[in-house]
Amino acid sequence: MSRLVVVSNRVGNLSNPAQTGGLAVAISEAIKGRGGIWFGWDGVTDDSGDGTTTVDTVGSVQTILNPMQAVDYEAFYLGFANSVIWPLFHYRADLVRFQQDYYEGYLRVNEQFANALMPHLKSDDLVWIHDYHFMSFGTYLRNLGCDSRIGFFLHIPFPGPDLLAALPNHAGFIEDLLQYDVVGFQTSADVANFKRCVEEFTSAEVDETGLIRFHDRTCVAERFPIGIDVDSFQEMAASKAEAAFIDAFKHNLVADKQMIGVDRLDYSKGIPARFQAFAQMLTRYPEMSKKVSFLQIAPPSRGDIGAYAEIREELERLSGMINGAHADFDWTPIRYIHRSVSRDRLAAMLRASEVGLVTPMRDGMNLVAKEYVAAQDPEDPGVLVLSRFAGAAEEMPEALLVNPFDIDEMAEMYFQALNMPLEERKERHRALFERIRRYDVKAWQESFLEALTSPREWAEKHA
Ligand code: G6P
Repeated sequence: MSRLVVVSNRVGNLSNPAQTGGLAVAISEAIKGRGGIWFGWDGVTDDSGDGTTTVDTVGSVQTILNPMQAVDYEAFYLGFANSVIWPLFHYRADLVRFQQDYYEGYLRVNEQFANALMPHLKSDDLVWIHDYHFMSFGTYLRNLGCDSRIGFFLHIPFPGPDLLAALPNHAGFIEDLLQYDVVGFQTSADVANFKRCVEEFTSAEVDETGLIRFHDRTCVAERFPIGIDVDSFQEMAASKAEAAFIDAFKHNLVADKQMIGVDRLDYSKGIPARFQAFAQMLTRYPEMSKKVSFLQIAPPSRGDIGAYAEIREELERLSGMINGAHADFDWTPIRYIHRSVSRDRLAAMLRASEVGLVTPMRDGMNLVAKEYVAAQDPEDPGVLVLSRFAGAAEEMPEALLVNPFDIDEMAEMYFQALNMPLEERKERHRALFERIRRYDVKAWQESFLEALTSPREWAEKHA
């Protein structure tokens, strides 16, 4: 079996299973079972160091961490990755802040990191690059003479040609993606968008099996929806360790039902509209006062970027305003927690909540939707309210699907979710649970690596 080499900007902490963050958790779970190398950024900026990598071994996984200079952190991470690609790919062209030095920083870091990884590679390795930070990584590896199979998986949505055209040198990025043997996306809509961009912006040709031919390379573009480790999450949610905390927490609540949202504090997550819909429901159904409370956990994220500082202020203002208008002496409608919470506590909190709110304006997949389902007691499960614009909606039609731009509809759906009869809850939960178990994190890793091992055969089989 070939050795697996995973590359991602953020490298998870393999010795700390209580970590948070969708990508890092999913890769930790995928790489632990198989072993290999996990290569990425060490998470700090350091101009004083000599630029050498740190190597560590945890079980069968070797982590190799590369430092980043402050100027690169600004231009690559805060700049091109998170102020250009992230907003654009989440359909927020209004938030894009392009600067030429951001673009140069992006290419520079892709090149530097590829240079730092190259000496560690063997020719029969399977190299699996992750996410929007490293779209050009494969090009630099190929320039260095790397002939290993290299795959790329995008965790966020991929836009169609109309939007992508706003990305300077968009054709160059598509050509970079065609350097990979396999390019994976979360949903079929993302794959279709990518293929339209290939058609519109390059001279590549697609053969009858769907293989994309570009110069002397062929590339498979497919959907590989990411999943979670259902059993371990379920176990964590039901574990006794958090039971006392949850009992005390519930005891302090006047309301007997709880709605919950768990998201990195990001404008793509639709948290303000989620708050407004909650207020709308309380106004429209005054009988719900004191019967329900809403817990929003939103760990800080990318706070050095203006748009993130703004969303933080907006939520503080909104939660204050809604609580001011609706609270009573013994009841706080919204509890808003702006800090990280350990994964085992999150799991227990999801289980203890009657309704899970996952209502992003746009999201690649959203693993909280799957975690909420995994955490439930199958005999008395809660209801998932899920945005149509989360990748997860493609696989989870039994959730209550909502349009996060329509506050009225969301308020109605909250009410419906809170009042859903047990039989219907169980039925929906059974269907959702079965699907998240079948397409779990292991299935995601195995199907991607199967395609990467033999891309042509894989394309013919799936044509
Ligand atoms: C999303 C992205 C990941 C990223 C994570 C946390 O899930 O798809 O690539 O690592 O957010 O964001 P951060 O900027 O802290 O790495």
